[in-house]
Amino acid sequence: MNVDVETVAKTIMQRCETLAQFNETPGFLTRTFLSPPMRDVHQTMQAWMEQAGMLVHIDAVGNIIGRKVSKYKDAKVLILGSHLDTVKNAGKYDGMLGVLVGLAVAEALQENELPFHLDIIGFSEEEGVRFGVPFIGSKAVAGSFDKAMLELTDASGITVKEAIRAYGLNPRDIAKAAYKPEEVLGYLEVHIEQGPRLAADDQPLGIVTAIVGASRAKLSFTGQAGHAGTSPMNLRRDALSGAAEFILFVEFYAKSVVDLVATVGRIEAKPGAGNVIAGQVEISLDVRHIQDEVRHKATRDLQEKAKAISQERGLELAWQDLMDQAAVPMSEKFINQLQTVNPDLPLLASGAGHDAMIMASIAPSAMVFIRSPNGISHHPDEIVFASDVVQGLEVLIQFIQNFQTSKA
Ligand code: HGY
Ligand code: MN
Ligand code: MN
Repeated sequence: MNVDVETVAKTIMQRCETLAQFNETPGFLTRTFLSPPMRDVHQTMQAWMEQAGMLVHIDAVGNIIGRKVSKYKDAKVLILGSHLDTVKNAGKYDGMLGVLVGLAVAEALQENELPFHLDIIGFSEEEGVRFGVPFIGSKAVAGSFDKAMLELTDASGITVKEAIRAYGLNPRDIAKAAYKPEEVLGYLEVHIEQGPRLAADDQPLGIVTAIVGASRAKLSFTGQAGHAGTSPMNLRRDALSGAAEFILFVEFYAKSVVDLVATVGRIEAKPGAGNVIAGQVEISLDVRHIQDEVRHKATRDLQEKAKAISQERGLELAWQDLMDQAAVPMSEKFINQLQTVNPDLPLLASGAGHDAMIMASIAPSAMVFIRSPNGISHHPDEIVFASDVVQGLEVLIQFIQNFQTSKA
């Protein structure tokens, strides 16, 4: 089958530009779970999928699914996908590239009769920006959606359930979004590496061996707001100074444990006026390591330190665990099949979380990384080389052709 991969890659890059226009913050790209611009993304994706002869539907949590239907009666399904939501002030490729490469593969194979259905999924929520918890989309597909998530609220107090309803979807249908594991042959995700390793080794692509585990929590320190000018230093219960002491300790602790990363990415001080001592501060905490026991110990140690700082400073501490996601190895079988396509592809672990770690709970899952030439991601300077997208396409198409014969 001859596919003009250069032209296809060009189309993929153009489509990334198109989707990048749909955002909730004019001037930079932010598109969170079921926000209004997601409708534009769904309409555009649906048109592209239908032009490729696919059956398209949107499930109860806003995942868009395009199916290249197999004529074989009891055909199972191979899924390609990634996510369509973004972080704040995001790049154009984190998530979207993987969905569009999957769609391009389905378009390239349009005339091929496959012995399995080929589903392309654009997950609605992987980053966890709006509600603090990631993977709402893939958890619904994997059947591991936790109903308690429906009550989580965003910054304006809207719950997940209300956001789903406001989008015109029905939370009662979430269970229907789950695939039957026995029907899924596997899941493959193409994604930018989001780090410096492939670029450092001058490699266009890599095969992911495992995805690190991650813990997320929300902390709030409560002290006493007061007048910045009249409150003596020794009488203060300053929530912002307490949070600052903790944040510096997070960095110090993470630097002292090999391969541990820990981040406080969000801070909100109230009342947030320059001449008022902060009475309450809320911060995020993100802790990751490839070994779960190291990550769990780090999270416990950090919680102990937050308690000690609060005691010392007369602050109240509230600690809410939001996620404890185990590290997930990718499918050996699929890694071998990818190496059959190209034995020179380097192997590397992923420091970023991905939907593949959720899909691995129901099907053999694997990821192909595309080089981040400047190693930057979760930032508008995120880039990819079209020539690397070409190579990613070629690997995926060959993987599916090999897979096709193995399933026929
Ligand atoms: O946070 C992550 O690792 C991913 O980009 N959602
Ligand atoms: Mn991503
Ligand atoms: Mn991301």
